[in-house]
Order: sequence, then structure tokens, then C-alpha cells
Amino acid sequence: MELKKYLQERAALVDQALLEIMPSQELYPEKIHQAMHYSVFAGGKRLRPILCLAAAEAVGKDFQPFIPVACALEMIHTYSLIHDDLPAMDNDDYRRGKLTNHKVFGEGIAILAGDALLTYAFEVLARKGEENPQNQKYLQVIREIAAAAGTLGMIGGQVVDLDSEGKNLTDEKLLVYIHTHKTGALFRASVRAGAILAGAGAEELKCLTIFAEKFGLAFQITDDLLDLFGEEEKLGKPIGSDAKNKKVTYPALYGVEKSRFFVREAIEEAETALQQLPGFTEPLKLLLHYLPERQV
Ligand code: IPE
Ligand code: IPE
Ligand code: MG
Ligand code: MG
Ligand code: MG
Repeated sequence: MELKKYLQERAALVDQALLEIMPSQELYPEKIHQAMHYSVFAGGKRLRPILCLAAAEAVGKDFQPFIPVACALEMIHTYSLIHDDLPAMDNDDYRRGKLTNHKVFGEGIAILAGDALLTYAFEVLARKGEENPQNQKYLQVIREIAAAAGTLGMIGGQVVDLDSEGKNLTDEKLLVYIHTHKTGALFRASVRAGAILAGAGAEELKCLTIFAEKFGLAFQITDDLLDLFGEEEKLGKPIGSDAKNKKVTYPALYGVEKSRFFVREAIEEAETALQQLPGFTEPLKLLLHYLPERQV
């Protein structure tokens, strides 16, 4: 199985579904729908939706029914990027190879486009729940995704990330908190959503949760490394953003070599967790091993 082709195919499926699900750009007020489309279709990797669908397959189920849930996860992720780039946060001008949302639409509309993607994601999730009224699993998934995006998840991580700027941080626990929350929480919820909806048993869910947590940590450490060594044209966002904002990152606290070691360690732990699953786990395994080499 070739990872590149797999990712392209899955991203295309997600893109197609997003196009069908999202409010059209012609709908009044056009400006907000255009701003939402601008960032959603700017060319993200679609990793969270892809992981959600792959988790359903790892449990031995067809992923097709869960595509709208995968789309909701991508909308929440895109909202978080629009807000993350705002002048009041990381103040970045490029994202996904294009000018950031606020650079094109202005800060007010960028804030609202983020809000709109977040709320619309939950509308989509609730609609799926309504279509499956006997399926309590949708309620659990909606709750978990909400919690993962909230103050005990992603927002909590973003708050501490902002609060720690410029501080000469030596607290390793705080760095782990930032990474597991600002980035890890949504990866965890994405994998769990696919697994729960596919009817994962307690053991399977446990393994996939460990996988997702380790994946999320390895992913954010490599994001920190790419901020130092990445190529802007490939990455589609500025390098050096963390240094500019004096962020607390893995390379800043541990140095580059130790950070790479932590990536390898997390990958090994994630792989061990995968070994206990019954379904089709090859994509999850390939995705894991792509992390240290990724350039985007
Ligand atoms: C970037 O996420 C933000 C982080 C959580 C590090 P991705 O690297 O998945 O960004 P896109 O979706 O592919 O643009
Ligand atoms: C962003 O972390 C995490 C969220 C958007 C929740 P970063 O600030 O490191 O992400 P990039 O590097 O801007 O993509
Ligand atoms: Mg940030
Ligand atoms: Mg940022
Ligand atoms: Mg970063």
C-alpha cells in the first residue's frame, strides 16, 4: 500500500463531502460563506478526518457512513487555524500556502468564519445523530468532540501556549500539557469518534486512544521541528513563527536531537498499541512512520 496515494484518495473523498455539506458561497451573507470556503479549501492535509475514517476500518467496519463526522472534525480544525493565525494569537500571514483568512477578509470576518465553522460542525454532527435516533453513540461522540475542542482540550492548550510566550519555561509538564491539549485533544477525539461509531469494544478503544495520543504528540513535536527546519513553500506557512513569538516548544526546551528522540519514542509506543487491533491497521501504521519525515 502506498501512503501518498492513499492520502490523496481519502483527502479527495473528504474534500468532495465538505463541498456538499458546507453552505454554498452564493448564500447570503456571501462574505462569511466565502471566508469559510477560503480556509477549508486552501489545501489542508485532512489528517484528522483521515484518521477518523481509518479508525473505523481498524475496528473492521466500513468508513463510508462516518464521512460527515470526519468533515465536522476538519471544520473544527480549520476554525482553530484561522483563530491561531490572528494578530492577537500567532500573527501569521500565510497558511496552507495562501494568505491567512484575516489578511484576505479582515479580522472581524476571520473571527466570525472561525466561529461559523465551529458551530456548523456541531450542526452537522447533530444532524447525523437525528438520522440515527436509536444510535446513542452519536451523542457520546458529539460530547467527546465538544470536550476535546473546549477548555479542557484544545482551547486549554491554546491558552497555556499563549500564556507561556516569552517565559523561560523549564517546566516539562507544562510543555506536555500544551502539546497534548492544543493539538493532541482533537487527534484523540478524531480517532475515538471513528472507533466509537464503528462499535469498537473497550479494549480496541483503549488501544486506539493510546495510538491517537502518541500520534498527536509526535505530530506536534514534528510541527515544532518544521518551524525550525521546514521549507516554507512546501509547508505553506511561515517558518520561524515559534521563535518570533518566543513559544515554548520541544526543540526550545530539549534541543533538536532530544526532540527527535521523543518523536521516535512516541511512534514506537503508538505502534505497540496498534498491534492489538483486529481490523485493517496498515494506514494508521504508515501514517505513524511518515511523521518523522514529513515536510508538510
Ligand atoms: C497544523 O495542523 C496545526 C497544528 C495542530 C500543528 P496540520 O499540519 O494538520 O495542518 P493542515 O490541516 O494540513 O493545514
Ligand atoms: C496550533 O499550534 C494548534 C491549534 C491551531 C489548535 P501551532 O501554532 O504550532 O500551529 P501552526 O504551526 O501555526 O500550524
Ligand atoms: Mg499557535
Ligand atoms: Mg500558529
Ligand atoms: Mg507550529
